[in-house]
Amino acid sequence: MLVLRKADVGEILNGKEKEHIELVRQTYALHAQGATAVPHSTFLRFPDDPANRIIGLPSYRGGKSPAAGLKWISSFPANIHSGIPRASAVMVLNSLRTGHPEALLEASLISAARTAASAALAADILTEGRSPGGVSLIGCGVINFEVLRYLGAAIGAPGEIVVHDPSPARAEEFVRRCHELLPDAAISIADSVEDALAAQRLVSFGTNAGEPHADLTSAEPGTVVLHVSLRDIEPLSINGAHNIVDDADHVCRERTSLHLTEQMTGSRAFIDASIGQLINGTVAFTPDPDKVTVYSPFGLGVLDLALAVDVQATAREHGIGIDVADFLS
Ligand SMILES: NC(=O)c1ccc[n+]([C@@H]2O[C@H](COP(=O)([O-])OP(=O)(O)OC[C@H]3O[C@@H](n4cnc5c(N)ncnc54)[C@H](O)[C@@H]3O)[C@@H](O)[C@H]2O)c1
Repeated sequence: MLVLRKADVGEILNGKEKEHIELVRQTYALHAQGATAVPHSTFLRFPDDPANRIIGLPSYRGGKSPAAGLKWISSFPANIHSGIPRASAVMVLNSLRTGHPEALLEASLISAARTAASAALAADILTEGRSPGGVSLIGCGVINFEVLRYLGAAIGAPGEIVVHDPSPARAEEFVRRCHELLPDAAISIADSVEDALAAQRLVSFGTNAGEPHADLTSAEPGTVVLHVSLRDIEPLSINGAHNIVDDADHVCRERTSLHLTEQMTGSRAFIDASIGQLINGTVAFTPDPDKVTVYSPFGLGVLDLALAVDVQATAREHGIGIDVADFLS
């Protein structure tokens, strides 16, 4: 059993943003071809503590390099008030020959990397080569910082960054980190979600909101919204926008904005396509220039799997991590 700690995983992931985006592209293509198995994520919630949850994401990737595994990721939003991350995660990779577990990885970094790679890939595809120049980041947490880094790899570093967070301290600390990452960028704080939506043609939601709180009326037509946190946008706005998803069956669950929109409208007709269909060219998508396009990725476990297998291979090659040879004996 190869055990990879957070520092090991971080060392291997660092600087490979373009490779991760390509891995995510290939994995979405496989998923849209039906070459994966991604059962619904299992949400463990606590009856007396609705804010917290732990999610299990099993997955199988077929194709040329088959693999299987499970991510087990917890979200305890109040952690951030104690200065520790909201999310923590572990990933198990299993042998497809014996079924035995072969590797155990710290997975919060992998999870953030695949989420940001997915958002950056969608930004590239949905802005169709017209560089938006700037980005509004709504929610100043781990995920939106990763989104910013991966946008740099996918479409070039944004020259203008607008951020918004209800916590001024979180917004200011985020701005400081953005300055460190992109010293030449013009960075400002928006007072409201509406101002942030209006400020740029590319917007990313990375909040911990549990219920929709934002309508899209202040966004200019043609704006691309990366709805990574899934529960921010009002169903009426979702219904009035173009919608691209990672997997409609996954994303129309667990009270996401799309799930609420499905309940409101009684169908999924508001969803235009999956990102895999756009990658494979199996669905034509010509956005109405008067509409906003929203990308809502539920977050498929097979993306974590793809990155974890890559990390495991690099670790084996370079002798990184702790090999517990007698783990199963
Ligand atoms: N779709 C996916 O694949 C995927 C994967 C990982 C994480 N996520 C989601 O991304 C979100 C962000 O994760 P994180 O680790 O960065 O969280 P985090 O807790 O580190 O940061 C969230 C930030 O959002 C802010 N916030 C809360 N309400 C807001 C509002 N109305 N407007 C603006 N900001 C607001 C909080 O103050 C906090 O600073 C979470 O909801 C998480 O579940 C999605």
